[in-house]
Amino acid sequence: MKLWRWLLSCLLRSLADGACAEPAAAEKGAGGSPELPFPGPSAAGSAREREDALRKSFKRIMHLNLLSSNDNITAFYGINQFSHLYPDEFKAIYLQSRPFKVPKYTPGVRLNGTETPLPAKFDWRDHNVVTQVRNQETCGGCWAFSVVSGIESVYAIKKKVLEELSVQQVIDCSYNNYGCHGGSTVQALIWLNQTGEKLVRDSEYPFKDQTGLCHYFSQSTFGVSITDYVSYNFSGQEDEMMKMLVEWGPLAVIVDAVSWQDYLGGIIQYHCSSGEANHAVVITGFDRTGDIPYWIVRNSWGRSWGIDGYAHVKIGSNMCGIADEVSAVFV
Ligand SMILES: *[C@@H]1O[C@H](CO)[C@@H](O)[C@H](O)[C@H]1NC(C)=O
Ligand SMILES: *[C@@H]1O[C@H](CO)[C@@H](O)[C@H](O)[C@H]1NC(C)=O
Ligand SMILES: *[C@@H]1O[C@H](CO)[C@@H](O)[C@H](O)[C@H]1NC(C)=O
Ligand SMILES: *[C@@H]1O[C@H](CO)[C@@H](O)[C@H](O)[C@H]1NC(C)=O
Repeated sequence: MKLWRWLLSCLLRSLADGACAEPAAAEKGAGGSPELPFPGPSAAGSAREREDALRKSFKRIMHLNLLSSNDNITAFYGINQFSHLYPDEFKAIYLQSRPFKVPKYTPGVRLNGTETPLPAKFDWRDHNVVTQVRNQETCGGCWAFSVVSGIESVYAIKKKVLEELSVQQVIDCSYNNYGCHGGSTVQALIWLNQTGEKLVRDSEYPFKDQTGLCHYFSQSTFGVSITDYVSYNFSGQEDEMMKMLVEWGPLAVIVDAVSWQDYLGGIIQYHCSSGEANHAVVITGFDRTGDIPYWIVRNSWGRSWGIDGYAHVKIGSNMCGIADEVSAVFV
């Protein structure tokens, strides 16, 4: 049984009779502490601490849901695989993107003169150029997941072949970042553009959930290198940003994802400031057909998080700071 499920049933029981026993020995890990779905140093601690964290999650979720009003459009929040973590623990593991100042976008840059009207709905997933959602586990390498996902898609758009490329290679080899302890998408792109490093297949250099030594491959090994990239601040210009997405491919962006700990689905319109960017993700599309237009955002927390691993974020008010640091790559 997953620990968070146990904690949930335990919490519900304890709300009823005020008692909650320690988990049975069989449910404890080797070190005597309970087995967590995402084990890691920050996720350690006694069952009682986990129970307390879960109780706090309940309170937080109730507050977050106050604005949802069951309309099935506004984002809703609830118990998920992160509910047993205190927000500080969650942040220490999952929110390890570091910001990088980028210039304000000037309309016209790189856009071809002939502007086709923007579609009401567009998603690169419909073009079969987006790989399966991955899981960064306890590695703070969201920045590498974001950049690699963008490169995979742009390569697939150009070459009509969708390859899963190595995230571990970027985590281990991008010397200007901090591996699983954090990094910046723009720094990773600077490194890739300067060195011409070829990203090999994921199967060749699989994800290990920790920073390792950089492996080198012979020139004959298949790999994808980038030829250029751009990074801009699109704040106040999300219409332009949609054009970029259609013309250039999925966009690597950073967001303030503190409230994403509890996200289950719906369009994020509240509780998401643009104050502190801390998580890197990828925008694969947008949908403007309903009352609330939204970005379709691919995360790296596995497919069980959010909407099959994705989140929907309102377009037009720099929600979560999504337009502050936007990068596109070229292969
Ligand atoms: C919201 O509810 C309506 C009516 O039940 C349904 O048709 C629609 O698909 C739902 N939308 C989402 C995003 O779940
Ligand atoms: C822009 O136009 C040039 C010249 O016509 C063409 O080669 C290029 O592929 C176009 N770029 C995009 C992104 O459509
Ligand atoms: C990326 O590298 C190419 C080739 O060296 C260079 O022309 C280009 O200016 C670089 N792009 C950026 C954004 O630095
Ligand atoms: C992006 O631009 C907006 C408006 O020009 C500005 O308020 C914001 O601070 C910028 N964001 C970053 C991260 O530089």
